[in-house]
Amino acid sequence: MSDTNKGGSRAPGGMGPGMGGPRRGPGMGGPGGMMMGPGGKAKDFKGTMRRLVSYIGRYKGAVMAVWAIALVSTAFSIAGPKILGKATTKLFEGVMGKISGAGEVDFAYIGGILAMVLGLYLVSALFSYIQGWIMSGVSVKITYRFRKDISEKINRMPLRYFDGTNHGEVLSRITNDVDVVNQTLNQSLTQLITSAATVIGVLVMMFSISLKLTLVALVIMPLSMGFVTFIVKKSQKLFKAQQEYLGKVNSHVEEMYGGHAVMKAFNGEKRSVEAFERHNKELYGTAWKSQFLSGLMMPMMNFIGNLGYVAISILGGYLAVQKAITIGDIQAFIQYLRSFTQPMGQLANISNVLQQTAAAAERVFEFLEEEEERPDTASPADADLVRGHIEFKDVHFGYSPEKTIIKDFSAFADRGHKIAIVGPTGAGKTTMVKLLMRFYDLDSGQILIDGIDSTSFTRKDLRRCFGMVLQETWLYNGTIMENIRYGRPGASDAEVVEAAKMAHADHFIRAQPSGYETVINEEANNISQGQKQLLTIARAIIANPKMLILDEATSSVDTRTEILIQKAMDSLMANRTSFIIAHRLSTIKNADLILVMKDGDIVEQGRHEELLAKCGFYAEIYNSQFSADVNTAECESA
Ligand SMILES: Nc1ncnc2c1ncn2[C@@H]1O[C@H](COP(=O)(O)OP(=O)(O)O)[C@@H](O)[C@H]1O
Ligand SMILES: [Mg+2]
Repeated sequence: MSDTNKGGSRAPGGMGPGMGGPRRGPGMGGPGGMMMGPGGKAKDFKGTMRRLVSYIGRYKGAVMAVWAIALVSTAFSIAGPKILGKATTKLFEGVMGKISGAGEVDFAYIGGILAMVLGLYLVSALFSYIQGWIMSGVSVKITYRFRKDISEKINRMPLRYFDGTNHGEVLSRITNDVDVVNQTLNQSLTQLITSAATVIGVLVMMFSISLKLTLVALVIMPLSMGFVTFIVKKSQKLFKAQQEYLGKVNSHVEEMYGGHAVMKAFNGEKRSVEAFERHNKELYGTAWKSQFLSGLMMPMMNFIGNLGYVAISILGGYLAVQKAITIGDIQAFIQYLRSFTQPMGQLANISNVLQQTAAAAERVFEFLEEEEERPDTASPADADLVRGHIEFKDVHFGYSPEKTIIKDFSAFADRGHKIAIVGPTGAGKTTMVKLLMRFYDLDSGQILIDGIDSTSFTRKDLRRCFGMVLQETWLYNGTIMENIRYGRPGASDAEVVEAAKMAHADHFIRAQPSGYETVINEEANNISQGQKQLLTIARAIIANPKMLILDEATSSVDTRTEILIQKAMDSLMANRTSFIIAHRLSTIKNADLILVMKDGDIVEQGRHEELLAKCGFYAEIYNSQFSADVNTAECESA
């Protein structure tokens, strides 16, 4: 009898028994349960859910089908215990009959019932398999669409957005938030239906078996539920704290490991270890409590549940003696009682899960609704005809409306000329480059390329005209060969080597352990900053652009190499317009035009000699770099 009980209690929903070993599932608050995502609740729950449903869109039919199948599967498995109870009753009657000599055990009948129950459970399992299969497919497709939409959106976002947003946040949208939605679609949505159906179905079955037993059960149940809710609330709080401290420990380790050299240099080991121990101790405290509590829950629930069984068994036995109930029905009843707790727990948790889903989906939708870049013109100008005549006309620009950075920039760059932009840090030199590449749109004014407004080109075409090398180098995890080839994916190995030679990078590349096949690691810390710059210059050279922009591209390279690169560039850029931003003015002496910037304005412009002769701002900067220069004296005497 007790054996049948154990076997049967696994029935409804095809899930584990409510009171079995430790179960990881929603409502438990322990590890494996749904954690609170960042940001808590959705601002507009209903609206977001409606949007999510419309996002599910053409999969609505499949979701409906899944629900229908889940309902059938649940119904089939709920029927199990009641029918199985008939077999128990028959067996009991047969045994009793045999004892009193009045009859035999009707094994044929019992066998028939067992076969039927087996059939029911098989069908139920098959249906739940089909349902899981369809739902996984749907949720993965929807998640795929979400990620695709986000990724495409990122490409349409203005750079302005990323200036003001944490990278981690954007990353979290693509991974965590979409994952939460996926999980809900995949599990919670069907769980909602099966749990509700199980709770209702089991209640109906219980009532149909015995009103009295059900009433007793319903008095005991809230006790257990109340206890679970209490523990879940408590442990969820502790669990959140545990996550927080775990995060602190992790970020401390990451920070210290990332800045290992600096930490050592400042003798920070002791402080670092102390901080680690502090965080770790806090983590220990909360982790201990939360795990103890969630570990406590199962035995306590078992205890309360067992009290219930005792009550039901006593009352059931009394009723059976009075012939008000059959043995099989008592067995079925206890099975139903056992299968009640889990779906109740899931239902209790579902509002929580839906809230988290709404919050996650809302963040994703908000991101998808962010203002985008102004779309490219419908009839773009032909960038292939660009010759490299560039004019800045009354350019005004600020990263934010409150603060204008470029106040009134007008300049003219002739085709094939070498234009140098100089000025103190923060003058707006890099900003000008970004505007030229149209990373940002102007507040007013125009940038004309061969007399055509730069907004008349598509961004893609426009950027293809320029090769750009920045002070911050960007290399990815790959070989040196691949990194240089990034400039022109079709380039041959020989062309890559040629470009590297022009950038004066060939020599150091060959000195690497695997030459051009040396893999640059993630932080690119296996080569020096200056070497990285040489690689990015080679990358720009191989792209063979019409115009070139070097923004302090050689700042980490020694002066001799810098001059060599400048010479190579000069020949490379002979017929192309180039913009050079350099700190060391010695390298731009031969520029066709020098624009001297200060606080977003051009304060002087002209050739090197003209500017020196002016004894203005340029002469001041230049002389500060060559303090012993004769020119200083000239200016003072002037
Ligand atoms: N992404 C940004 N968002 C807001 N302000 C910025 C941003 N980039 C630069 N600035 C500001 O614009 C000014 C000019 O910067 P930048 O053009 O980089 O100067 P430079 O290259 O001449 O040293 C600085 O005051 C800087 O603080
Ligand atoms: Mg700069």
